[in-house]
Amino acid sequence: MDGIQELRAKYLSQVASAEGAEALESVRLAALGKKGEISLKMRELGKMSPEERQIAGPALNGLKSEIDAALKARKAAMDDAALDERLKAEWLDVTLPGRARAKGTIHPISQVTEECAAIFADMGFRVAEGPQIETDWYNFDALNIAPEHPARQEHDTFFMHRAEGDNRPPHVLRTHTSPVQIRALQDQGAPIRVIAPGRVYRMDMDVTHTPMFHQIEGLAIDKDISMANLKWVLEEFFSAYFGTKVKTRFRASHFPFTEPSAEVDIQCSWVGGQLRVGEGDGWMEVLGSGMVHPNVLRDGGIDPEIWQGFAFGMGIDRMAMLKYGIPDLRAFFESDLRWLRHYGFSALQAPTIHAG
Ligand code: PHE
Repeated sequence: MDGIQELRAKYLSQVASAEGAEALESVRLAALGKKGEISLKMRELGKMSPEERQIAGPALNGLKSEIDAALKARKAAMDDAALDERLKAEWLDVTLPGRARAKGTIHPISQVTEECAAIFADMGFRVAEGPQIETDWYNFDALNIAPEHPARQEHDTFFMHRAEGDNRPPHVLRTHTSPVQIRALQDQGAPIRVIAPGRVYRMDMDVTHTPMFHQIEGLAIDKDISMANLKWVLEEFFSAYFGTKVKTRFRASHFPFTEPSAEVDIQCSWVGGQLRVGEGDGWMEVLGSGMVHPNVLRDGGIDPEIWQGFAFGMGIDRMAMLKYGIPDLRAFFESDLRWLRHYGFSALQAPTIHAG
């Protein structure tokens, strides 16, 4: 049939030189589309004599599939080239070092709390907890603190608001961790050995006081627990905490919830303006303590004729400052990383928030 070779040469060269998918598509339409040149030729087959058709039919079909194949091959080549371009443009260097992520440090108070809890755990003390918003009964009455006691005066205690017309005594922000003594006794009864670390609140603010600070309460009740046990437990604790033998000194004192009561000092010295715990002949007050008052045992629901024991309350902030040489209480609230690192608080190895 006339013109087949010309058609073949024309479209194969157009396919070969088409740039881009659109150009290739217009070549396809011009050759094989409904009104394409080759399609029109195929329609003419009907008008041919059978002899002519027998030659022209296969020739046209062959041309059609050859051009079709050429179109597909060209399309594939173009796709490959495009992919090559993308791979070059979007190349990712997986050998680059990762971007360092900023790490926080554990807060000194949290660290010291954990250190203390671990030492007391070795002596059989479990951790107990209570609410920071406390009823005045747990914070005061149950601890044998009479309504006229100065600790109840407004200048020490934060009182929560009551709705107008609600005449119940207001809740307070607990002023010490001692209410946890009552809660633990009510929950667990005796014998008992617990510590209760946590936040406490007093209306106080200067270089050595903040309105929120931290205490650890200790409570040990059994049938024959004495002040001697208290002294041993505290000396064990301080020696473990400071990593050196620390002597303690008991001074007679008064708390409504203990009888007898003692304030406890630890041995220390000042060398060149630096405080050293566990040496020298100086003393520093660190906690209040005593034998739990019978009224407190009764309020906790246990019989003071059978049970007795000691309690103590210690400031955690002070303990952190003493061990890590931190000079200013207010610094705890800044939580500046550079400051924390300066005092040797290391970055957390792994965030604890989602620890399994
Ligand atoms: N709760 C007392 C305070 O905050 C400390 C204390 C606790 C004293 C337990 C004796 C027994 O000062």
